[in-house]
Amino acid sequence: MRVLSGIQPTGRFHWGNYFGAIQQYIDLQGSDEAYYFIANLHALTTVRDPELLRQYTLDAAIDLLALGLDPERAVLFVQSDVPEVSELCWLLMTGAPMGLLERCHAYKDKKAKGLPADAGLFTYPVLMAADILIYDADTVPVGEDQIQHIEVCRDLAASFNHHFGETFVTPKAKLLESSKKVPGTDGEKMSKSYNNTLEVFEDAKAQRKKIMRITTDSRPMDQPKEPETDHLYQLYSLFASEAELADMAAMYRRGGFGYGDVKKALAELAERFWAEPRARRAEFEAHPERVCEILADGASRARRKAAQVLDRARKACGLKL
Ligand code: ADP
Ligand code: TRP
Repeated sequence: MRVLSGIQPTGRFHWGNYFGAIQQYIDLQGSDEAYYFIANLHALTTVRDPELLRQYTLDAAIDLLALGLDPERAVLFVQSDVPEVSELCWLLMTGAPMGLLERCHAYKDKKAKGLPADAGLFTYPVLMAADILIYDADTVPVGEDQIQHIEVCRDLAASFNHHFGETFVTPKAKLLESSKKVPGTDGEKMSKSYNNTLEVFEDAKAQRKKIMRITTDSRPMDQPKEPETDHLYQLYSLFASEAELADMAAMYRRGGFGYGDVKKALAELAERFWAEPRARRAEFEAHPERVCEILADGASRARRKAAQVLDRARKACGLKL
């Protein structure tokens, strides 16, 4: 299996990003060949401040390394460090039907809201297809919102192969476990766009404050409560051992407890859980040159593979004499 996924550097990672995606990427490294990249070309469609984009990109790399992405077991790189991908994007664009791209939700949603869209957003799925095809990836772990883009990638690969002869591996999406949908501080899905996030690497004190402000229901304290449907309990379950979780569930079902105590317990478990990554992050942060070396090495490994596949595609469509 060759696994590949990309993550956009559009802000600091939150618990949803970790439990919903990053942790699963990390679990997949090692057993298979794995390529993970920071999708800064895609982020450029929304982050228009150069200093911020640089900072988010470096932070994403440091965060991923601190969380356990291991450059010995996975190729970690920055998307734009492999310029071959932009050329392949053009090749694919020449065979991408307008209608197919018009149906893609990022563009369609923006247009439906009457917001101005640019060509970068419109062709976003083609660049994503190039990202995948250029490494002969066969397995792409993504969240549900990206499934449509993998379908576009499969369509573009199939039509190129049909027209020019077998060139690309047709990849499959691997849907990330949706049971890991993490609620935010307001009980809705945790997301940057909802302003309800708990960040992976925020200052412990600031995080504790945010945890203490998580919304809770207003039923009387003595009333028993169903744990599974409570977002505070769901957050607690991300960090608790089986025994801790069983105790907490029993307390909910008994009733007569205060949400403040649950929040304190959650803050403690979260602090315990993030302590080691936090220490590793501090080390990487103190040595950004090491992070840059890891990314440069990742890019050169990725480029080696990308050059082979691009060469195959250039030959197939008659660009190479
Ligand atoms: P955001 O909604 O905060 O902008 P992104 O869309 O950049 O997050 O998500 C990056 C990755 O993290 C995706 O693979 C997505 O499926 C996953 N993810 C984001 N939020 C959550 C969540 N609340 N629960 C589970 N996974 C999530
Ligand atoms: N579009 C993806 C997202 O927003 C990121 C991404 C870019 C990606 N290229 C990719 C994911 C290739 C998987 C494969 O989450």
